[in-house]
Amino acid sequence: MKHFLNPLDFSVEELDEVLDLADEIRANPKRFAKVCEGKKLATLFYEPSTRTRLSFEAAMMNLGGNVLGFSSADSSSAAKGESVSDTIRMVSCYADICAMRHPKEGAPLVASMKSSIPVINAGDGGHQHPTQTLTDLYTIRCLKGKFSGMTIGLCGDLKFGRTVHSLIEALIRYEDIKFVLISPEELRVPSYIRDEVLKQNNQQFEEVESLEEALPKLDILYMTRVQRERFFNEDDYLRMKDSYILDKEKMKLAKSDMIVLHPLPRVNEISVEVDDDERACYFKQVEFSVYARMALIMILLGVDKPC
Ligand code: CP
Repeated sequence: MKHFLNPLDFSVEELDEVLDLADEIRANPKRFAKVCEGKKLATLFYEPSTRTRLSFEAAMMNLGGNVLGFSSADSSSAAKGESVSDTIRMVSCYADICAMRHPKEGAPLVASMKSSIPVINAGDGGHQHPTQTLTDLYTIRCLKGKFSGMTIGLCGDLKFGRTVHSLIEALIRYEDIKFVLISPEELRVPSYIRDEVLKQNNQQFEEVESLEEALPKLDILYMTRVQRERFFNEDDYLRMKDSYILDKEKMKLAKSDMIVLHPLPRVNEISVEVDDDERACYFKQVEFSVYARMALIMILLGVDKPC
């Protein structure tokens, strides 16, 4: 039994297998409409979500399976003090696979140790969000055709933005990637990402503050929201929240084939006027996420492809 807690739980070859299967599903979704008949996915969300929970549920339904779960800690027995370890032992009796989001870093890992079903990390605190990474990789592969040779700008809250941490860990395994890390000084990537991931792997990267200066060299711009829920005080959040706002004027500085990604939700960091630009691909990302999660569910459940 395999869990998916971190993008590094899958080798590059295993990730390719997931993305290849996502391609097959996207080309002919009807072919896969019954492959998970009789299977159940539990969504255990201790923290708010729109995309991740709903796309997991849509993915399982598209495969012919069923879903059960809770969408907030308050509506589960966590509110009465039940531990994650006890909860997963219960859920293992009800479901075949689960996706867990939790505000505490490492909670899905703790769950996996007591689980008899595959556990998927659907976001743990400011740590990791590996299925967003699957979505991001799948989107990049569909729209750019490759990962190697890309200059990727990651902009915004790089300190608390778990999608950024997971994406960096996944992408450093490909050739000739350059990262431009665009953030205010106080929201730079955590030191473990800089020292143990980027530097230890001799990854090319630079840390800058100006989005305008970075834009002309980027093939991909990955915008992120300032993560209000992770700040210790509101004043710091208010000071930082509008550090970067991508608008039509700034888009004039970018290459004609640069793509703009964002894990969403957005607050103010991409002006809605950018949505009509053909380089704005964040809503396509949402569409691609369902295929990527369908493929992941099939692979973790060991479900065969239909003939
Ligand atoms: N991208 C993402 O994780 O969105 P949600 O918080 O809505 O799930």
